[in-house]
Amino acid sequence: MKERILQPIGNPLHGEIEVPGDKSISHRSIMFGSLAHGTTIVEHFLNSEDCLRTVNIFRSMGVSIEQKESTLTIYGEGPQSFTEPVEPLYLGNSGTTARLILGILAGLPLFTTFYGDRSLTKRPMNRVVEPLRLMGASITGRSQGNYLPLSVEGKTLQAIHYHLPVKSAQVKSAVLLAGLFANGTTTVTEISPTRNHTESMLQAFGVELLNNGLDISVRGQQTLTATDIYVPGDISSAAFFLVAAAIVPGSQLKLLHVGLNETRTGIIDVLQAMGADITIEREETKGGERIGDIHIRYKELTATIIEGDMIPRLIDEIPIIALLATQAEGTTVIKDAAELRVKETDRIQAVTETLTNLGAKVEEKEDGLLIHGRSKLHGNRIQSYHDHRMVMMASIASLITTSEVVINDISPIATSYPTFYADLKSVSE
Ligand code: S3P
Repeated sequence: MKERILQPIGNPLHGEIEVPGDKSISHRSIMFGSLAHGTTIVEHFLNSEDCLRTVNIFRSMGVSIEQKESTLTIYGEGPQSFTEPVEPLYLGNSGTTARLILGILAGLPLFTTFYGDRSLTKRPMNRVVEPLRLMGASITGRSQGNYLPLSVEGKTLQAIHYHLPVKSAQVKSAVLLAGLFANGTTTVTEISPTRNHTESMLQAFGVELLNNGLDISVRGQQTLTATDIYVPGDISSAAFFLVAAAIVPGSQLKLLHVGLNETRTGIIDVLQAMGADITIEREETKGGERIGDIHIRYKELTATIIEGDMIPRLIDEIPIIALLATQAEGTTVIKDAAELRVKETDRIQAVTETLTNLGAKVEEKEDGLLIHGRSKLHGNRIQSYHDHRMVMMASIASLITTSEVVINDISPIATSYPTFYADLKSVSE
């Protein structure tokens, strides 16, 4: 436990931040680099706890991975080279590692056991275990395999056509990765488009994949060929500073080299819908992903409605968007977001409690939130909920509270953004 006392800021934020690499893309680069044949160099890799769990897991299966700060060199020799780990593998807090690794290992001839921290141990795994079992996977664990610890005994898999019952890139990815090692062609059909990093990165590794609207198909028994990866800045990390600049009067910030994949840019659309002064500069495509600098200047905002297909495009940003909404004129409605209840914590409940404790007017709904702006926020003692995004949201809130905010434990930020406070300091002085 690492308590932190945060004082309100007396001046506007200004300057530039190069946010760390994207978490989703970093995880996939390790996994696909390990599955590939040849040497993959990953630049601007996210050097955070979650991503290091993924590195350790592949090292435990015999893959040689070198790390120099944010550059990884992965010496891939294909999945046949993986060796069976003798000890259970620790996933920490990482839902992405858990779900995607189950897909990868379901069809490989190894016996593996996984466990996680107390947050991950409460998160549902049947969303991936069910489709994988339909393909022939052998997975056992608590509650018929719904909760970690889980064991996987690799089997020969058969392709399926799976209609995703939830809007989840992790489930989509797990089924497609299992499909890579299955007999036949596996298809997933989505309800709404979710982040597509698995599809685009698999293609970069030479996998043939058919993307037909909401249907994505992959032929089994394909080989991955090593390729170099540049990881864009994580828009989910940039989001904290976009909102900081939008709520601290007089602020002006530039976030550099941020990933702008349109399955992830819902936060920009929401800021624009609320009337924010935001521009994208120096846009380019690098390593198959759109990147650019985001320039934001403080401006008074009005409420908006966030629902439907927009939700997967900003699912991880909802805690910080809720804070933003407390400073916008009118009532912001967030609905169709029940998935938030199964994140690192129940984020609908955690956001309601945290913002209410800081003086905001928030109503909790089964699948979302109603936030009545504007509210003057005051200091208080805040819980971490063992959730990195809740800690960072409360830290940004403290910039505009009338007195200090005390967070009981800031250690969860190491999950996705270890340099968060250093970056915040660099634009606060
Ligand atoms: C992720 C997908 C999302 C997101 C998570 C990362 C990924 O989860 O919340 O932080 O890398 O595929 P779901 O697929 O469960 O929505």
